Amino acid sequence: SSVAAFVAALPKVELHLHLVGSASLDTVLALARHHPDGGVPTDRDELRRFYTFTDFPHFLTVYHRVNLLVTTGADVVTLLDGLAGELATRNVRYAEVQVTPVRNRMAGISYADLAAALADGRTLARERHGVQLGWVFDADATLGPAGAEETVDFAIGHRPEGTVGIGLGGPEVGVHRADFAPAFRRAVAAGLHSVPHAGETVGPDEVWAAVTELRAERIGHGIGAAGDPRLMEHLAEHGIPLEVCPISNLRTAAVPDIAAHPLPTLVAAGVPVTLATDDPGMFHTDLDAEYLICHEAFGMGVPELAEIARTGARAAYCSRELRDEVL
Ligand code: ADE
Ligand code: ZN
Repeated sequence: SSVAAFVAALPKVELHLHLVGSASLDTVLALARHHPDGGVPTDRDELRRFYTFTDFPHFLTVYHRVNLLVTTGADVVTLLDGLAGELATRNVRYAEVQVTPVRNRMAGISYADLAAALADGRTLARERHGVQLGWVFDADATLGPAGAEETVDFAIGHRPEGTVGIGLGGPEVGVHRADFAPAFRRAVAAGLHSVPHAGETVGPDEVWAAVTELRAERIGHGIGAAGDPRLMEHLAEHGIPLEVCPISNLRTAAVPDIAAHPLPTLVAAGVPVTLATDDPGMFHTDLDAEYLICHEAFGMGVPELAEIARTGARAAYCSRELRDEVL
């Protein structure tokens, strides 16, 4: 359709995707064959089925299994090379990549090796693919406040070029955003942007906590905010954008079906919304597909989709030159 052609040609930024979750099927198959005892299928069709998630906790267990296959700095560079190639295909000029250093360390990568790999991968993304990358170092809520402190230690101590923010992923059930306030306070004091996940699988309370306790400047997902008009007003008034990932929400069953997705409610309330893929390799999506599902399911046309792209460019922690090029 003409909308598909418009989206494909549109220069875009992508503000929410995870390093390990972005690995293509081919990349993960190669890693799985290299670590045949890792519990990840080495057959393509089986891997596809492995990526069928019953619910959000199931998704996280699969994610952690794949994470453990990424054991060297060279693996990280391979992931970034593949990711940048995919982004270039979709006309994505700038992306902020969520990297979970503590999980990489648990898979056997030293922090020095990780920092060096990110530097190499970032250069390669720019020179080979024409894609700029920024880093969000995200804590995994499963690993508690101590894991978040370790994440901030890495972000501040190594501060690889392109570091823009501190994040918080993993579960929201049984663990609260507010528990991570001290780590976020330290990161923000060191000049990092606060961009936690919140309100992915739960309601407005955790989004409020992200805003008030973690000083969130942007929020990963945040769709739980749609249940609270006062919160939506707050996000709109303070210009706190949501990185909405509709296909992720379907795949993890965070929403039951696309008709039930709160994106139109958020947009109607004036909340700044941008689109992202979250874990494109695992969710079988790409950024164009996220735009197109909004066209197909919500009737958004070229003006609305262009506004979503501009919201992303305004919310990106990239150079002004790059932002102006995309705007
Ligand atoms: N880690 C990887 N993908 C994630 C998601 N969608 N939510 C929380 N943590 C994640
Ligand atoms: Zn995410």
